[in-house]
Amino acid sequence: MTEFLSVAQIDRAAEVVRERLQAQPRIAAILGSGLGGLADAVEEAIYIPYPEIPGWPTSTVPGHTGRLVSGTLEGQRVLFMQGRAHFYEGYSMAQVGLPIRVMQRLGVEILIVTNAAGAVNPAFEPGDIMLITDHLNLIGMAGPNPLRGPNLDEFGPRFPDMSQAYDRELAEIARQVAREKKVPLHEGVYVSLAGPSFETPADLRFLRTVGVDAVGMSTVPEVIVARHGGTRVLGFSGISNKANLDGSTVTTHEEVLEAGQIMVPKLEVLIRSVLARL
Ligand code: HPA
Repeated sequence: MTEFLSVAQIDRAAEVVRERLQAQPRIAAILGSGLGGLADAVEEAIYIPYPEIPGWPTSTVPGHTGRLVSGTLEGQRVLFMQGRAHFYEGYSMAQVGLPIRVMQRLGVEILIVTNAAGAVNPAFEPGDIMLITDHLNLIGMAGPNPLRGPNLDEFGPRFPDMSQAYDRELAEIARQVAREKKVPLHEGVYVSLAGPSFETPADLRFLRTVGVDAVGMSTVPEVIVARHGGTRVLGFSGISNKANLDGSTVTTHEEVLEAGQIMVPKLEVLIRSVLARL
């Protein structure tokens, strides 16, 4: 397992992707569990399966297709990741961050991250969308961070600022388009846990107490790598299930994928409308 990435490893992967792309993408998006259908809207699409890119982490999870989709959407050159790899699959944090490093090498300026998440905020219902305004890096706070190891100075500083991990200007555009298109949009704090086990009721009560609105198993490492390299980030959580604060209901991956069907059309409206404004 690659614990730390070298610039040479990043460039080997970036070279393979660059050769296949027709033009340089400006905006990238990562489509989470059950949300891969968003890439179907990409026009003049070309596909690069992850196993064809050296070092690229391949998702082993149902609901993650595992390929790059590049083309145009709303007049923008886009690069979509249809599926992502997770820390719980056995990848190092650095490997989880490799796709972001490749995007940065390709000149991507804006990253849109999406995920399926459990609602910790009791006001959220399955099928709702939450604009991520901040995150709680519970895995990295006392453990693995994707930036651990030698700092890649050509990407960013040793101690990168995270005071505005989620770009305020992009968030404001998302709020505006949500109002205009009448897509209800919650806002809140996302926490990433290592997984793959779902939370106990006690875990969830703890998360609620510390100010979490939605819980998942991805996104945070990607956003840290993005910010380290100066990439601007916009984030959406699709709420796939309600938190089981009292232990009365069961959470399954199937219900996460099912809720994805409801969320994809809403996220498509939001993402298309944001793209049209950029
Ligand atoms: N917990 C953690 N990750 C998740 C959940 C959840 O309830 N739903 C979707 N991803």
